[in-house]
Amino acid sequence: MKNVLFIVGSMRERSFNRQLAKVTEGMIADRCNVKYLDYRDLPMMNQDLEMPVQPVVERVRKDVVEADALWIFTPEYNFSYPGVLKNLLDWLSRPMDMSNFQNPSAALGKKVAISGAGGKNMTQSCRAKLTELLDFMKMDLMHESQTGIALGLEAWTKGELSLTDGQRAELQEQADAFCAFIEK
Ligand SMILES: Cc1cc2nc3c(=O)[nH]c(=O)nc-3n(C[C@H](O)[C@H](O)[C@H](O)COP(=O)(O)O)c2cc1C
Repeated sequence: MKNVLFIVGSMRERSFNRQLAKVTEGMIADRCNVKYLDYRDLPMMNQDLEMPVQPVVERVRKDVVEADALWIFTPEYNFSYPGVLKNLLDWLSRPMDMSNFQNPSAALGKKVAISGAGGKNMTQSCRAKLTELLDFMKMDLMHESQTGIALGLEAWTKGELSLTDGQRAELQEQADAFCAFIEK
């Protein structure tokens, strides 16, 4: 079984993206061990805080390094990705051993997939910008399959994610593609 680390780009307790991650977990649980990254205590990037490496940064990087692959579930904020997610990725982009800038980051070459739930735009702009960022960080992004969910009225009124058959099928397709992708 592969070890997969889920990263939710929302800090909200009842986050639709966290709920989407839970649905996805059910789809791959027979093939992968799923863990959720807790990065709530990560400080805002500040180069003064990089050395010595803080325990929270070390723990977050360790979780990423130990995972065979990552899967990011994120809302779209103002046509882009949320600041908390960018902050996490900034920490993951830096060399783990700062004595030499050629040293690898925790994110380097890491397999990663993207999904998002949001408004009518289906997180399309967020996912496009995140694609650019993960490529820049030299991560191994699964480009060919992403899922974008436009939340329905029921979700907004009840606060609960409900997927249409089509959306569920799209997610299932990505889940299967992801499992094949991480075996490569
Ligand atoms: C600062 C901010 C900006 C937002 N901008 C967008 C946006 O550009 N596109 C969109 O679809 N939804 C936008 N939303 C709405 C979010 O998609 C919505 O609140 C969603 O439920 C957040 O995801 P979560 O439930 O996982 O926390 C924005 C929300 C916030 C807080």
